[in-house]
Amino acid sequence: MGPGLRRGDDGVGSGPRRGDDGVGPGLRRGDDGVGSGPRRGDGRSSRAGFRPPGWLHPVVVVAALVPFAWVCWAFYSDLAHNTRYLTSEPIKESEHFTGKWALRYLLTCLAVTPAMKLLKAGWLVKYRRTFGLLAFFYAVVHLGIYFGLDIELMWSNLVEDVAERLYITLGMLGLVLMVPLAVTSTKGWIRRLGNRRWNALHRLVYVSAVLGCIHFYMAVKRDVTEPLIFAAILALSLGLRWRWARAGR
Ligand code: HEM
Repeated sequence: MGPGLRRGDDGVGSGPRRGDDGVGPGLRRGDDGVGSGPRRGDGRSSRAGFRPPGWLHPVVVVAALVPFAWVCWAFYSDLAHNTRYLTSEPIKESEHFTGKWALRYLLTCLAVTPAMKLLKAGWLVKYRRTFGLLAFFYAVVHLGIYFGLDIELMWSNLVEDVAERLYITLGMLGLVLMVPLAVTSTKGWIRRLGNRRWNALHRLVYVSAVLGCIHFYMAVKRDVTEPLIFAAILALSLGLRWRWARAGR
């Protein structure tokens, strides 16, 4: 899902290439600077010699799945043992919980490129795709809870909600836009589409994140502090990209 990969990249931009430390510079022709693809000064020229330990990526993935494991366990415990980990409304609570994690990971995915540039940590590129796929995973679980448990597989309710509640329509659109990104996040698809088209397609991640933030804002009934914090983080991430793109960095 992470935008900006080069030919010969491994789909996540992490694979060391011949004569490359795996994070080498790689300026591309035709990059318009909006995307987060590898460009001069984008942090791919990592601080000399730093290589993350091999166990870091699997540890990050497992840690990122802990909230999912927790919500499954809490849901089971609330139903089977009458606990109240997910308040008195476990379905609603788990829906909110997974929705928020989807958005957190989507924003983390978008924060990877600015982090790479600011920290000169090109090795982080691999985590863009990872967090994008994690966001997609949590969004699918979120939809599953909504459709399977909240509206109990009633297509008529789904159609009604989509037609009548704008925030559901926007959430749906945000998720639909994530599908082609998840599907084409593999090495084979990057090769098939070519860099330019792949990068253009993967700019949809910004649209999806904006829709996710609006969806969150509209879904919240009272206190909008949290959705505004999410929106501010997104605005910061997009603002930095825009500034760098204008400065040709
Ligand atoms: C098919 C797509 C989606 C559907 C049907 C859907 C549905 C819902 C529903 C029913 C709620 C609860 C609203 C309420 O309490 O009444 C909700 C909340 C939420 N959704 Fe979605 N959603 C979708 C996609 C997404 C996506 C793609 C994201 C993030 C990237 C997302 C993030 C959230 C967040 C953050 C909340 C609010 C959590 C809270 O109030 O604490 N949703 N969604």
